Amino acid sequence: MLKEVITMLDLRQNGVYVDATVGLGGHSEEILKFIGSEGRIFGIDKDAEALKIAGKRLSDKRVVLKRGSFSDVETLLSLEGISEIDGILFDLGLSMLQLKDLERGFSFVSDKRLDMRMDETQKISAWDIVNRYPEREIDRILWEFGEERLSRKIAKAITRLRDKKSIDTCSGLSQIIEEVYGGRGKTHPSTKTFQALRIAVNRELDQLREGLEAALKLLKKSGRLCVITYHSLEDRIVKHFFRDNAKTGLVRVLTKKPIIPLIEEIRANPSSRSAKLRTAERI
Ligand SMILES: C[S@@+](CC[C@H](N)C(=O)[O-])C[C@H]1O[C@@H](n2cnc3c(N)ncnc32)[C@H](O)[C@@H]1O
Repeated sequence: MLKEVITMLDLRQNGVYVDATVGLGGHSEEILKFIGSEGRIFGIDKDAEALKIAGKRLSDKRVVLKRGSFSDVETLLSLEGISEIDGILFDLGLSMLQLKDLERGFSFVSDKRLDMRMDETQKISAWDIVNRYPEREIDRILWEFGEERLSRKIAKAITRLRDKKSIDTCSGLSQIIEEVYGGRGKTHPSTKTFQALRIAVNRELDQLREGLEAALKLLKKSGRLCVITYHSLEDRIVKHFFRDNAKTGLVRVLTKKPIIPLIEEIRANPSSRSAKLRTAERI
């Protein structure tokens, strides 16, 4: 949703912008075209590999890239002497790199080690959750972060099997889930469990809440906050955050309903099918 984001950010000449999830730099590359010669972009990502690629694509004196979590955006910007911004974009979810690189252990068809860390310097990976966490905690993670109806059965199957032999690979875990499902359901049986583990490993929902709060503090009056989400748990957090802050008069919500991709975009890039863009303006 490149065009939609550019429109909703209402980019200004010489404005200061944050791309909180710079990824491979696609959105920032486009933003650069609209912010004049003195504009600036601070691009943040947890993923060192993504930042390397973004660094090449965005080699421009107006761009500064920072490795870290967007929940620390205030600190990251204060190190650059910035305390106010004109707009910020969060494009949540996984980058193409994370989706395609089987080594990163996000895919349920790969025989690679269960990993799912966006920040590879972080200690806890999906392997630790699956092989070390108590059954009740695995059940809670699958239920809360995956809305997985069969969370209890899957957690039980995981703990029973790992007592015999550790569950090391994505496909190994997937096989356990498929057996619990026994051929039921339209989507791949592992979809919800993998989403839940990814959210837990990367503390995605907590960091989103913290990132939104921090963004609001940084935004100048009439600055814009754009968020693209890819599943209902994220979208609910953004919707409530906007609504609560609209009630107290801090923002005006510009998208009563979220903007969704055009059918052509979904055809060209099927992983965009669940994307929702919401925007608020600081008042
Ligand atoms: C969908 S991709 C962004 C794609 C990007 N807009 C582009 O045009 O290439 C999401 C990115 O957000 C990063 N990410 C997710 N959560 C993060 C967080 N809490 N802090 C920083 N980066 C995060 C991921 O590592 C990933 O690279």
